[in-house]
Amino acid sequence: MTVTTPIKQKLPPGPTKPSFLQLIDWIRDPFGLLEKSAQAYGETFTLKFNNNIPSLVFLSNPEVIEEVLSSDAKHFDSGRANNLLLPLVGENSILLLDGKPHSRQRKLMFPPFHGEKIRYYGEIIHEITEKVAQQWQVGKPFSIRPSMQQITLEVIMKAVFGISDERRNTQLKHHLTQSLELAAGSVLRSSLLFFSILQQDFPGSPWRTFRRRQQSIRELLQVEIQKRRDDNNQWGNDVLSLLMAARDEQGNPMSDEELQDQLLTLLFAGHETTATALSWAFYWIYKFPEVQEKLLAELATIDDITDIKALNQLAYLDAVCKETLRIYPVAFLAFPRITKSSLKIGNYEYPPDTALAPCIYLLHHREDIYPNPKQFQPERFLEREFSPYEFMPFGGGSRRCLGDVFAPMEMKIVIATILKQYNLRLAERKPVKPIRRGVTSTPASGVKVMLESR
Ligand code: HEM
Repeated sequence: MTVTTPIKQKLPPGPTKPSFLQLIDWIRDPFGLLEKSAQAYGETFTLKFNNNIPSLVFLSNPEVIEEVLSSDAKHFDSGRANNLLLPLVGENSILLLDGKPHSRQRKLMFPPFHGEKIRYYGEIIHEITEKVAQQWQVGKPFSIRPSMQQITLEVIMKAVFGISDERRNTQLKHHLTQSLELAAGSVLRSSLLFFSILQQDFPGSPWRTFRRRQQSIRELLQVEIQKRRDDNNQWGNDVLSLLMAARDEQGNPMSDEELQDQLLTLLFAGHETTATALSWAFYWIYKFPEVQEKLLAELATIDDITDIKALNQLAYLDAVCKETLRIYPVAFLAFPRITKSSLKIGNYEYPPDTALAPCIYLLHHREDIYPNPKQFQPERFLEREFSPYEFMPFGGGSRRCLGDVFAPMEMKIVIATILKQYNLRLAERKPVKPIRRGVTSTPASGVKVMLESR
């Protein structure tokens, strides 16, 4: 006789603290809250934040996560779980869409970031990295994150706009960086996104400054859109050109506002995340000299470090990038999937409107999948393969990250360029911990390094 586990009708257990206090903990120390909750309630638990989603169920069992991510997307909404990003990316952003409008946008935005064409970015990424690294001064400690942000922002702008006006690019970069600092630069500032009550528009208020920056960004994006129109359809192969050429089922192009929202999304999603991943990568590489030595030995076996096909053959470099994304995943959650009707997943029957959040951080720290999970051990990726539901820094299913190929490529070229040409060392002794930055995590110190020689 087989014994089947009874289906539980209630939500998984979780803290009984008032939801407002749970939300404060979530903003202030997400990793502490996740670890404490997993210890107290196990691999599936519920947190209540009393914002636009009533209950958030955290999942860290790979089979359960697979069940959610491989289910038909029609069972879930996800875009509305991202509503707090609305001020950053606008209501037409792919991040906020669901159903048909979402799959239509994905179809449009997927090809430019996949396939053969992205190989041509190798040279560009290398050049931009060199340009930024040339500004470093020997013997002067500095935080590496702003440099990584400069690199990844320039790279994504090249991919999105192609060759563009340098002066407009500089203005756009300035406003984008300032705008992100205002809305997500620190734990306190991240509160601006989480609490609509803080979004008050009065002279000198952070919200008004943020809104003005966003307006300036939109105006610059509009100039870029208009320029293409004035060029009599002589458009290039960049993402903006492809989005402008696309037509819906009725033959209509995207409106200017829709175009602006998608551009904003790519600029935000495409550079912050990769900059954080790279900062962590350098932290681990310089923290453990043997990692640096092994990487240098491996890089010496290829002639051209801008050739992504050759770099992709380097198993240790690949393992270092993966272990970096495992140990402190930039996105500690995949987008929550909100049930549209009652749904049985794992041992629970979830009522409609329950948000199921695959928790990448807890999944990546499971002792049974990753022994000694708190230790940085790239070798684990050489010793065995992990399923897409055991290792998932880019999420999965119908909302899997659009930069899942582009970001690792960029990481590899930047790492190869800096390791081969610049002699850096870590300029801080204490272990660096992750902290919240908006809806992502980042190294608390920005990772202090010092250039010893070129
Ligand atoms: C290391 C860098 C990156 C990490 C760790 C990362 C991580 C993620 C994660 C976890 C998701 C949610 C997936 C899900 O819920 O299943 C996501 C979505 C997304 N990412 Fe990334 N990302 C990175 C870089 C990029 C880049 C370079 C781009 C630009 C092309 C990008 C564009 C997007 C977009 C547009 C979505 C939304 C997809 C959708 O809603 O269908 N990301 N990313």
